[in-house]
Amino acid sequence: MIQYKIKKFQYLDPNIDVIEMKNEDIEVHVSTLGCTILSIFTKDKNEVKSDIVLGFDDRNIYLKQDKYIGAIVGRVAGRIKDAMFTLNEQEYHLEKNNGENALHGGLLGFDKQIFKYEMIDQGICLHYLSKDLEAGYPGNMEVSISYTLVENKLIAHYEATCDQDSIVNITNHTYFNLAGCGTVLNHELLIDSDEILCSDETGCANGVRLKVKDTPFDFNTSKQIGRDIDKDHEQLKIGGGYDHYYIFNQTSPSVILKDKKSGRVMKVNSDQKGAQIYSANFLDGTLKGKNNWYFNKRDAICIETQSAPNAIHIEENPSTILRKGNKYSATTIFEFYIESEEVL
Ligand code: GAL
Repeated sequence: MIQYKIKKFQYLDPNIDVIEMKNEDIEVHVSTLGCTILSIFTKDKNEVKSDIVLGFDDRNIYLKQDKYIGAIVGRVAGRIKDAMFTLNEQEYHLEKNNGENALHGGLLGFDKQIFKYEMIDQGICLHYLSKDLEAGYPGNMEVSISYTLVENKLIAHYEATCDQDSIVNITNHTYFNLAGCGTVLNHELLIDSDEILCSDETGCANGVRLKVKDTPFDFNTSKQIGRDIDKDHEQLKIGGGYDHYYIFNQTSPSVILKDKKSGRVMKVNSDQKGAQIYSANFLDGTLKGKNNWYFNKRDAICIETQSAPNAIHIEENPSTILRKGNKYSATTIFEFYIESEEVL
């Protein structure tokens, strides 16, 4: 049984709501500002509930933060080289919000938009109309984001249609910390992936594939995130740690994150081809989060399932193109366990 509570977003715009949903296993709080996941509460091995995602008690921060904490990012997640692209022989210019590049949908991307919403079976569905040329992208795009709770799973499902050919690549940018505080360097991570996409000096995927075998990027066998993160590798220097697109192999689950101390395990399954794995390298201790926690570098890990970043420039048939009349659809399942209960 799911229970819901709807609250007005504290201190701010009265048009923003917070929806709290819970079942026997998990409790998830979602804001209609950016479909942001404010909290996910799960039990540890001693049945103690903690919030395992980064977020802010001071809700005003969500309006100004540029770290996309908990938010849905779009239209196009990741960096687009030189903030421009060509589609159907027409050049489109995007907002440059990351040096010369466009990042995560621009200055007022989906993370800064207020979504309408409806309650659906086992969860919530949020809607937004992104108007033609908003942030520079062509076409009126109708976007739906749903979050449902099914037993120990949070299912995130994204859909979009557009009245012109356009590009889209939506992801959720939740920062996970299964211990509920401190660093994630001691979390164990498994990623079912043999190849990553390399980044250029601006952090933009450049289309070069790197085989992870015998490099610090290899997570095919579970290892602590901190084990190799500071190793001498050109790509780790560019990212300031892990900040790369991992191309999934075809097996599942694709990613398993474990915190041995609390016993919490999260498995991530997705129909997407890969995920940007980001070890929160740009957090610098200045953002004051929940419970007076100042977020530091590597206090969390983001598992941003999506199509390849910068696909429009680096793929022959870019997977991010959405043709008029077609439907974009993507699903990612976050599944939460206690280690002893784990079913593999
Ligand atoms: C990630 C991106 C990082 C950084 C972060 C937001 O998705 O890969 O480079 O921009 O978002 O702070």
